[in-house]
Amino acid sequence: ARGVLRDKFRNKFLVGAAVTPAQVAEGQTEADILKDQFNSITAENVMKPGALAPTEGSYTFEAADRLLTFAQANTIALRGHALLWHRATPDYFFQGTQDEVKARLEKYVTDVVTHFKGKVYAWDVVNEVISDDDGATAPYRNSNWYQAAGGADYIDWAFEAARKADPDALLFINDYNTELTGKRARLLQVVKDMQDRGIPIDGIGHQMHIQAATPVADVLAAIDDVDNQFMGIINHVTELDISIYNDPASCFKNQTNCAADYGNNIPQTAVDDQAQKYRDLYNGFEARPSVTSVTTWGVSDAQSWLNGYPVNRTNAPLLYNRDRAAKKAFRAIVEPDFEI
Ligand code: G3I
Repeated sequence: ARGVLRDKFRNKFLVGAAVTPAQVAEGQTEADILKDQFNSITAENVMKPGALAPTEGSYTFEAADRLLTFAQANTIALRGHALLWHRATPDYFFQGTQDEVKARLEKYVTDVVTHFKGKVYAWDVVNEVISDDDGATAPYRNSNWYQAAGGADYIDWAFEAARKADPDALLFINDYNTELTGKRARLLQVVKDMQDRGIPIDGIGHQMHIQAATPVADVLAAIDDVDNQFMGIINHVTELDISIYNDPASCFKNQTNCAADYGNNIPQTAVDDQAQKYRDLYNGFEARPSVTSVTTWGVSDAQSWLNGYPVNRTNAPLLYNRDRAAKKAFRAIVEPDFEI
């Protein structure tokens, strides 16, 4: 029935999905699904620097503005993703002296946040700035940004500029693998240090691209750790999807020993396990008041990035199948009595 998903979590958290402009076009099935069941969207790609400012000094807001128009017309909130990232960002951002890099960064953040002022209610200000290991630059990722800025100061510059441009927007640090204890410890240390320096930060974005066997407890522990260690920091689950596979580290590293492609014959146990996991996760998020938004990274399985990552393979990580029909996972979430 209309609205059962978003209504189940009303006054708890916004129910979101990552989208493309094509998906929200008039008459698209995804657009109808979004109007029907969701109250938040995130741009899967068109609000990244490469999309908004492909060449220095000129902006291309048209695609992003189509998402904004759709959101406003349907009373759907718009999450901004992402101001600074080490990917999907033109090379010119990283050129010149530290002062030039800083001035360019501040201008970009100011211009983009100002364009969406009062319309984008929350921004992923920095995306994936935490290191995956305890290497030389830990807890920070040794990225193009880190190199160009001569260290991690660029994170502060971005948050300060964003706050100044739109004091009402919620500002997030967003990262993956927060369900892993090492990565999470580095992330929380960085947030603590930012707060100690007086940098304006409102929340932590947990991407939550998880695998079939990722324990639900590990995901919820990420939320609980934030709640236990901070006062007033909110949690957004920003990019949730549950792969139907379990891949070893080598698959992510060099695409070896990846789980075999199920093709169109996904085992019933995988479908059921995923539904149970979605149910347990949404129940867990609902029970944690610091979680104020839960976004899946896409609408239907047909369009998920996981069909191409870590290898080309049929995946089915979302709430709607390839025919855009609600999956068992959807019913598992919205119907407490539904037997998986
Ligand atoms: O639009 C172009 C098309 O014109 C061109 O012909 C084609 C050839 O490669 O590329 C198309 O762009 C691709 C774009 O997705 C749209 O499909 C890019 O190559 C491809 O790199 C891009 O991938 C996106 C990726 O971020 C990099 O920006 C994925 O869709 C998107 O799901 C993914 O999202 C990220 C989050 O932002 C951050 N967290 C991880 C998550 C998954 O990687």
